[in-house]
Amino acid sequence: MENLTELINKMTLEEKAAMCIGANSWTTTPVDRLGIPVLSFSDGPHGVRKVVENNGKVTGTIPATCFPTASCTASSWDVDLIHTMGQALAEECIALNVDVLLGPGTNMKRSPLCGRNFEYFSEDPYLAGQMAASFINGVQSKGVGTSLKHFAANNQETRRMTVSAEIDERTLREIYLPAFETAVKKAHPWTVMCAYNKLNRVYASENHRLLVDILKNEWGFEGFVISDWGAVHHRVTALKGGLDLEMPGPRERRVMAVVEAVRSGELSEAVLDDAVRRILRIVLKAAETLKGDPYDQAAHHALARRIASEGMVLLKNNGILPLRNPRNIAVIGSSAKDPYIEGGGSSHVNPIKVDGPLEELQKLAGDARLSYTEGYTDDDRIDQGMIDEAVKHSSNADVTLLYIALPKTKESEEYDRADLDLRPQQVALIKAVTAAQPDTVVILNNGTPVVMSEWIDGAAAVLEAWMMGQAGAGAIADILFGKINPSGKLAETFPLRLVDAPSQLNFPGENDKLRYGEGIFIGYRYYDAKEMPVLFPFGFGLSYTTFEYSNPKVSASTFSDVEGVTVSIDVTNMGKVSGKEVVQVYVHDQKSELSRPPKELKGFVKLELKPGETKTASVRLESRAFAYYHPGYQRWITEDGQFDILIGASSRDIRFSQTVSLQSTQVLPSLLNRDSTLRDWLDDPRGKSVFEPVYLQIMAEKGTDLDAEHGSDIRVTLEASEYFMELPLRDYLYFQVSTQSESPEQLVEGMLTQVNQRN
Ligand code: BGC
Repeated sequence: MENLTELINKMTLEEKAAMCIGANSWTTTPVDRLGIPVLSFSDGPHGVRKVVENNGKVTGTIPATCFPTASCTASSWDVDLIHTMGQALAEECIALNVDVLLGPGTNMKRSPLCGRNFEYFSEDPYLAGQMAASFINGVQSKGVGTSLKHFAANNQETRRMTVSAEIDERTLREIYLPAFETAVKKAHPWTVMCAYNKLNRVYASENHRLLVDILKNEWGFEGFVISDWGAVHHRVTALKGGLDLEMPGPRERRVMAVVEAVRSGELSEAVLDDAVRRILRIVLKAAETLKGDPYDQAAHHALARRIASEGMVLLKNNGILPLRNPRNIAVIGSSAKDPYIEGGGSSHVNPIKVDGPLEELQKLAGDARLSYTEGYTDDDRIDQGMIDEAVKHSSNADVTLLYIALPKTKESEEYDRADLDLRPQQVALIKAVTAAQPDTVVILNNGTPVVMSEWIDGAAAVLEAWMMGQAGAGAIADILFGKINPSGKLAETFPLRLVDAPSQLNFPGENDKLRYGEGIFIGYRYYDAKEMPVLFPFGFGLSYTTFEYSNPKVSASTFSDVEGVTVSIDVTNMGKVSGKEVVQVYVHDQKSELSRPPKELKGFVKLELKPGETKTASVRLESRAFAYYHPGYQRWITEDGQFDILIGASSRDIRFSQTVSLQSTQVLPSLLNRDSTLRDWLDDPRGKSVFEPVYLQIMAEKGTDLDAEHGSDIRVTLEASEYFMELPLRDYLYFQVSTQSESPEQLVEGMLTQVNQRN
């Protein structure tokens, strides 16, 4: 720190202002005379996208390993694997002389239509947070930085540069911030990238509450906030709002604007110094990592294949998989030749090599005969000839492998999807082929859910292979032939229909306002609360073996929020092959002051089990697992009461439930105010104790004999009239007290003072 202060003291105002704006598209501004080097950035998140420029013009990107995208990696539910992927990404950054990788993307999958959902982990903040933290820890363990993005509420592409995400405080705290919070607290990313959009009318790039109050002060973030590329509108306002580094640069006029603002006193130099200190700390830290060492491309390719196979989700299997030595295999679908490995936009990696699904199948199929036909093209044409050809191939085969990928332009940065549909030709193809050949396996490549109701009943099996990265083709073959037992589970719900989606009536907003009307009820929180059927629930995925859950234990049936509790369960592999199971722990609050979702994920463990083997999954539930954010108190609160701890194989396959009692140790201030009703006063212990004597006095003055009416319980007496219970106390007093010298308002003020003294 001492060094940093000295260094900052040696910098001129102009140098400091320039330090806060990029020198070009991908680096910070160096200060040669003080030996301050540049810091370089590259996208992210699922591969290093190092741009090659010639005379300022982008001429391409350097090949790098294209790992599976986040939809796939999150579906592995394997935090160690994501850590390893992070390390591999860091090795590639080191080889390519990149200091900071622009990822991971940690926005919530609010709508299945968001064009960038393939880059994001989950609809669940707990799962997304764990994945992001692990990714960051992996990358940074090698001395390379990350950029946790896009902070915050960038949950769609439509009008992402201008739209205002209108989110109430509780929803923000419980759904849209926690994944960032977990990643910041557990993994300390070197940088956090602000979003393009506005949050509650204020651009994220100048949102003091978001960047300073919450991120830096509340969560203790010590890195620097970098703008998304072009997200800064007013440099001085953004600096005041907590945005440290504007990218890209250069922007000479903006540097001068900062200098002038400091000179005129509009901007405190301390604010500029804080930004410079944050940036410099990372610049110097990055310089400690020696760059240039090559990485093992073959090992990274193998890792990409392993990750893909761990993230793929077997959605349906009537027993056809794993394949049992078929002699004639019909392979249909253009994505069997031209695989769909990643989405469009800034995350697009130039892969080192791409394995072909057909070739990878052939390698594992031994001497079986593979016949191939295209089945569909990348456009909207219905081509009956292609369908007839596919049916012919299928009818002559023992089994058909039908590779169906979304068109490559459907999922991308900069726009959202319009629907969840496959192309009409693809649907017609699946229907015709499955009718002719019941032993048909559909292999899907997409970054986000597709609807399947029209055809899924006809398919013998469905494998969700996601945007699977450059080595995904081999992972598909591994799973189809049983070399790998699938263990992925969905990190997002697959709805039956687009109109079922929770955000559907508030997407993509109007008049540049996007009301998050569904509040905390996104993903399975919504489908569960509405008791709606879904195509595949959150947490769902099949295996080639079965797992039995037994011996559930909760370390205490009554415990306090500071103690927390440990939940464990034994899982036994009942089948004949090794496999992995993701044990999920959800919590349900039986009764709460504010409404809560029927269940929320609070822990998970992925276990690897040999046939017949039993292992214990153990999950620690701390206070936060039971808490919710109360906007009245402006904090996370725990309430006394009963909670169900649900242990399951998916959000809709709960194997055990145990009720426990939580005792809150929190002492909360009273929320009573001038508008509080009689019910509010009686519900609040301090309010009740202040109200009761006042009430008794009023009744005595009126000569009412309480006991004769309803017994001595004041609450019972008052509840006899629902009308009274819903009245604000001041109005109730107005009806009851006509002779008092104090007005009802004055009386309430006095009572509130007494309540607050008891806080
Ligand atoms: C994207 C970011 C990306 C940046 C740099 C922006 O358009 O939103 O995710 O890191 O460009 O390429």
